[in-house]
Amino acid sequence: MLNLGVLASGRGSNFQAIIDAIAWGVLPAKIKVLVTDNPEAYAIERARRAGIPWHYFDPKGFKNKEEYEKEIVKTLLSYEVDTVCLAGYMRLIGKPLLSSFPMRIINIHPALLPAFPGLHAQKQALDYGVKIAGCTVHFVDEGMDTGPIILQAAVPVYDDDSEESLSERILEQEHRILVEALRLLSENRLLVEGRRVRILPDGGEGHGK
Ligand code: GAR
Repeated sequence: MLNLGVLASGRGSNFQAIIDAIAWGVLPAKIKVLVTDNPEAYAIERARRAGIPWHYFDPKGFKNKEEYEKEIVKTLLSYEVDTVCLAGYMRLIGKPLLSSFPMRIINIHPALLPAFPGLHAQKQALDYGVKIAGCTVHFVDEGMDTGPIILQAAVPVYDDDSEESLSERILEQEHRILVEALRLLSENRLLVEGRRVRILPDGGEGHGK
């Protein structure tokens, strides 16, 4: 059973996918708290509807990024969070969070990493002209979308795709693999060996590092 803290900056459809998976009984987890850096994030409305506590912290209201993250860590720990999920959280994660949750922070990214890290990944893929796009769930390290990869899913890119149509096709897969990765984590089935993450058979005891 995971005690999840979710960090989100916007629409929150990935956050919703987690809420739904828990409600349907396919993910043994509890979302203890949502933290957002955006007071306009629709994710807040989703938290309200689901009865999940949420906190907004304005990064500009802190002396520096470290102080901002320390506040987030304090909040997550006060809710007894053991696993952090970045669900459309648009900031690079720093030391305070990484050292408080080693190999317990996962991120969903809308590209087949290591291709197209950072912002506007779907547009990057279209502009590059790839024929296959997709998404990646990975453990978070100090880099930009560089941590060990847990799961990926591929989708075709069509000639008449716009950024919106491609993003929508990828998003469907994001929701699926994010929930699947969390489920594997909840079952202790992810074994991190350097950069490689092995998925252990049912009943396996995984561990980080
Ligand atoms: C998703 O496509 C997610 O992969 C992406 O932001 C979107 C958030 O959608 N994240 C990143 O680009 C992080 N680098 P959502 O708010 O509906 O989940």
